[in-house]
Amino acid sequence: MNFASMPHCLLLLSFKKAYCMNKGKQIFITAFFIAAVSIQSSYAQQVYKEMHRPQVHFSPREKWINDPNGMVYHNGIYHLFFQYYPDSTVWGPMHWGHATSKDLIHWQQQPIALYPDSLGYIFSGSAVVDKNNTSGFGKTGQAPLVAIFTHHDPRGEKEGRNNFQNQSIAYSLDNGKTWTKYAGNPVLKNPGITDFRDPKVMWYESQKKWIMTLATKDCITFYSSPDLKNWKKESEFGKELGAHGGVWECPDLFSLNDNGKQVWVLIVNLNPGGPNGGSATQYFMGNFNGSKFTPMDSKTRWLDYGPDEYAGITWSNTGSRKLFLGWMSNWLYANVVPTATWRNAMTIPRELKLKRIGREIYVASTPVTELNGIRLNPVAWQNIQVKNSFDVSAKAGKIKLPGRLDMNLEKLNDFSVILSNDAGEEVAIGYDNKQQQYFIDRTKAGKTNFQKDFAGRFVAPRLSKAGNMDISLIIDDSSIELFADNGLTVMTAIFFPTEPFKHLRIQSPGNTTIKKVTVSNLKNIW
Ligand code: FRU
Repeated sequence: MNFASMPHCLLLLSFKKAYCMNKGKQIFITAFFIAAVSIQSSYAQQVYKEMHRPQVHFSPREKWINDPNGMVYHNGIYHLFFQYYPDSTVWGPMHWGHATSKDLIHWQQQPIALYPDSLGYIFSGSAVVDKNNTSGFGKTGQAPLVAIFTHHDPRGEKEGRNNFQNQSIAYSLDNGKTWTKYAGNPVLKNPGITDFRDPKVMWYESQKKWIMTLATKDCITFYSSPDLKNWKKESEFGKELGAHGGVWECPDLFSLNDNGKQVWVLIVNLNPGGPNGGSATQYFMGNFNGSKFTPMDSKTRWLDYGPDEYAGITWSNTGSRKLFLGWMSNWLYANVVPTATWRNAMTIPRELKLKRIGREIYVASTPVTELNGIRLNPVAWQNIQVKNSFDVSAKAGKIKLPGRLDMNLEKLNDFSVILSNDAGEEVAIGYDNKQQQYFIDRTKAGKTNFQKDFAGRFVAPRLSKAGNMDISLIIDDSSIELFADNGLTVMTAIFFPTEPFKHLRIQSPGNTTIKKVTVSNLKNIW
């Protein structure tokens, strides 16, 4: 039995059951249905129980994933498509895998949405709800979902041509279950730029047109279209701005509310050249007038300073709420991390908001509030004087991941939160007051020698000027996400201990007062 197709065979069974007139048959089918459900749930248990398997983050049942794609909210469902290679645990001919969720936390993997074809592999891109049926793909009363993606032709690449990446579209009339590729693909042809990819499309209401934000090697090119099929170049941005240690990929453009004023945010993923090496997500802030993006300054800002958030972009069609998700890995080692049957996962979905610090303005990200729905057994302590060490597991017993730690410090001081196991392995997350830097240190975190840059201590500036500090840590079996100062400084890092981390202590050399620390379990999402 192909377990991968189980959810659909189950659906079919329940459908058949409803139409079954013969009682005997019905009992048999009902029994089979119950058996199939229990096989499926025990399969889910085995599958999502492997060593290092994320328990509260999306990862595929098996095989390789990279970038999130086509994230769109439609009819009460969050869709997450993703770069997927169903035949191997290393990168290969790209498909769009598919998962759906009602709450951004519990995911159900669906059949593959888009397969490679004669025009090439299906690289990254986005999806929109075409509410006005500008594309003409809709049926009466039914708006189509339209996916806009890069066709990457491996033959053209091999032959050394410079136009092997082109933009294409596909549409769905059944809530993203099945997709039809447009016969007129590609809809945007390559003018001779080797890196010409990852279209992120949004509706620009005041001029009633679509805007495509496209990564074009070392800059962003904006295109516009009335119907998603015909595209016109509007402008370029960024050749002389921002970080350029590598190629620009996976952009996103959207506006956020700043006390009633609209501020535009342009996300540009970059590989390599991130603040801690390898791939990372930078962003610009400014204005967009339907044709041109004008930055407000020449600052390089980072949405996540850690080594392991990449290709992050936002969901479309979520109204004024902006929801972001990234791939939780780094191209430096994504293909060789020590997991067996699957490779790589996504970050926790995050909500983006603007935040002012004096005259500066930043995008802050915090875990979506839906995460509170899986919070269990919180244990809290107040007004703790940390004299060197506060041993959480000595007080509350061994910790069981996944979990979450939330902490407020009354005054700034050095501290580190140390996760460790009985094999002497540890990950330290903390703050260096003199440098005004947060850090994650995974040099002693267990398996690190699969790639030379993996073991390391990674740092991020503290942007907040507040005299007190709050941090939240989302800790899974093989990852940590640090949200400091209400999401102003964020870091994501993965790790692979040889046995699970069970101990947690907070260390601080001075006479630090922790106003409150809360440690909670997170309920497994599988
Ligand atoms: C980013 C990226 C994209 C590309 C995809 C291919 O991680 O390189 O630019 O579309 O991955 O899988």
